[in-house]
Amino acid sequence: MKFLIRGGKKLLGEIAVKGAKNAVLKAMAASLLFSRPITLENVPAIEDVSRLAELLEKLGAKTERKKERMLRIDPTPIKSGRLDTEIAKRLRASMVLVGPLLARRGEAIFPYPGGCVIGKRPIDIFLDGWKAMGAKINEANVSGATVGGFAIKAKKLHGTDFTFRVVSVTGTETLMMTAVLAEGKTVLRNAALEPEIPALAEFLNASGAKISGAGTSTIEIMGTGGKLLAARRPFTVIPDRIEAGSFLILGAALGKKIKVTDCNPAHMSALLAKLEDAGVRCEVGRNWIAVGRPKKILATSVQTREYPGFPTDLQAPFAALMTQAEGESVIFETIFENRFGYVEDLKRMGADIFVADTHRIIIRGPRQLRAREIESPDLRAGLAFLMAAILAQGESTVSNIYQIDRGYEKIDERLRKLGAEIERVE
Ligand code: EPU
Repeated sequence: MKFLIRGGKKLLGEIAVKGAKNAVLKAMAASLLFSRPITLENVPAIEDVSRLAELLEKLGAKTERKKERMLRIDPTPIKSGRLDTEIAKRLRASMVLVGPLLARRGEAIFPYPGGCVIGKRPIDIFLDGWKAMGAKINEANVSGATVGGFAIKAKKLHGTDFTFRVVSVTGTETLMMTAVLAEGKTVLRNAALEPEIPALAEFLNASGAKISGAGTSTIEIMGTGGKLLAARRPFTVIPDRIEAGSFLILGAALGKKIKVTDCNPAHMSALLAKLEDAGVRCEVGRNWIAVGRPKKILATSVQTREYPGFPTDLQAPFAALMTQAEGESVIFETIFENRFGYVEDLKRMGADIFVADTHRIIIRGPRQLRAREIESPDLRAGLAFLMAAILAQGESTVSNIYQIDRGYEKIDERLRKLGAEIERVE
């Protein structure tokens, strides 16, 4: 499957943001901690959710889409601590299952995690955290002799005082989830601050966990030393701030006016500040933001940072916007070391981009982009390509769209409603 896009269209209308990929995946993983079924609401229909549900099913859990946006997970029949190798090695987010699995079953066996090709993405911090809680870690072949991975065991996990040497989002979430069932108190220092973390803590606390400080750099967890009951009320997934941000950048490049609804503007202040710097007027309501393309887009440099800084996941879409800006902008990626895989294709489309080193690119604009056949290297670059193709004169194709479907629900249908000419073709 590919997307076929006829460029040169201005976009107009409203687009509603779905539930956050990077929140729902963690809530799904947390289900393993509970001794009762849980229900999640505002669950996006994206491929990563389907893959994680498959992984849960392979462990023995039952997952059921109740209504369109409701997912029920029954973790009680779980009978294995081994993640399915084929699925897990293609999905980096499979790592979030390991902590809860270890806490619940005393054992987790999994392959080296795969996922987006955006840097080394090691798991050393996770391993150190589990070791500090008393787990034994063996590197192992997890599927015959070919696939390397890990077997982690712990008869009993105990609380620990742990400092992250690098701020890690899934590292923080994973150790927080593991600590919930450990015995005694865990303190996590230099923890990540992303809004998905307090959201996960709120979900766990509603189910009997005792977590304080989530959303700050020090998180304290009083472990229950056993199982957790699950909350009876369904848990609502927070809006996807990266999807919302992607649509705002799209609106800044292409919008007569685009109103992004069902979002939380408080989670997007760094992007809004940069859009204002670029000359884009942002109208902000309680749960919506409206933008349009200004007469002149001004060159604006960004550095990606941990939350509340400018998100690395919006770096590629913002770079695509800067190809339309007057002057020179520097994009400095500080979180990952290999997140410029999209640059060569944007250059083939006519962008003027100089790669200074593995962390910095310099964009000179504005440049009229030309249609090309391009292949999406990862989820977020995929969205940047859709945007470039809508900006370009002529007919482009974007292939490897599984990468885009991993995190953006029915993006073609939703962009069509704004006036984009985009089709999904064989
Ligand atoms: N790191 C280590 N060792 C570790 C773990 C991380 O050195 O054990 C390093 C990474 O290599 C990276 C830095 O720490 O240089 C920060 O990475 P982090 O661990 O925070 O990233 P992540 O948790 O793997 C999540 C999101 C990503 C998002 C990043 C940064 C999920 C499932 N993924 O990844 O989202 O880019 O945080 O905000 O929550 C996406 O949605 O497209 C995506 C890639």
